[in-house]
Amino acid sequence: MKKLPVFILTVVLVVAASTVAWGAGVLRVATEAGFMPFEFVDEKTGELLGFDMELIKAIGAELGMEVKIDNISWDGLIPALLNNNYDVSIAGITITEERAASVNFSDPYFESVLTIVTKSNVQNIASLDDLQGKIAAVQISTTGDFEASDLQDAGGLKGVSRFDTVTDAMQAVIIGAADVVILDLPVANAYLEANPQAPLKHVGPVADNEFYGIALNKKNTELLEKINGALTQLHENGTYDKIYQNWFGAQ
Ligand code: ARG
Repeated sequence: MKKLPVFILTVVLVVAASTVAWGAGVLRVATEAGFMPFEFVDEKTGELLGFDMELIKAIGAELGMEVKIDNISWDGLIPALLNNNYDVSIAGITITEERAASVNFSDPYFESVLTIVTKSNVQNIASLDDLQGKIAAVQISTTGDFEASDLQDAGGLKGVSRFDTVTDAMQAVIIGAADVVILDLPVANAYLEANPQAPLKHVGPVADNEFYGIALNKKNTELLEKINGALTQLHENGTYDKIYQNWFGAQ
């Protein structure tokens, strides 16, 4: 019995120490997990996997915050931030001027580019200039959608079919309802790798490079600074490179 106070003291110290470690609280994260290899659902475990998922967990660890991630719809991500339902969104979100008018972005964490996916047997599509008279399928309100919409306005595309998910856009080309998908090249690569039986190919980079950022409510400037600090830290301590290699191999 004499040992009890020491034991209790130990428990109190451990609890106190862990409160300090986790004192920064919970980081509420929203994503749209239909964007392999950045975010996707592990079919067996239901777990959210991918480059972005690992990165945000590493950021949480760096900040001493517990990371809770929800998988919601793509076009709900920015509204959810504006409503303060989440602290951050990470979902391969390209930093654009229009979006930056409503949310803040972290420093860029990934450089990407659009590509065109077509049926494997299509020979005459190599760039955005080759889409006259064609129908493009896109995930709604993505940079692929913006590019397709501009092309259509300029008469360089017959129509744009907008879908909630990348998978549905791909499906539209597979069944012949659309001619091409315009989407992020790393995601096209991962899709084609995961679906080797799909009669599809991509034609490589077709636009200027874009940069992904983590999005936050504009009022949350303190967290923005912390996240940028954590990103710098992860670049410096090699964690970013490790995560990059996990998903994209050595460069
Ligand atoms: N990078 C593109 C954009 O920001 C597509 C992102 C789609 N992300 C997703 N999780 N579905 O518009």
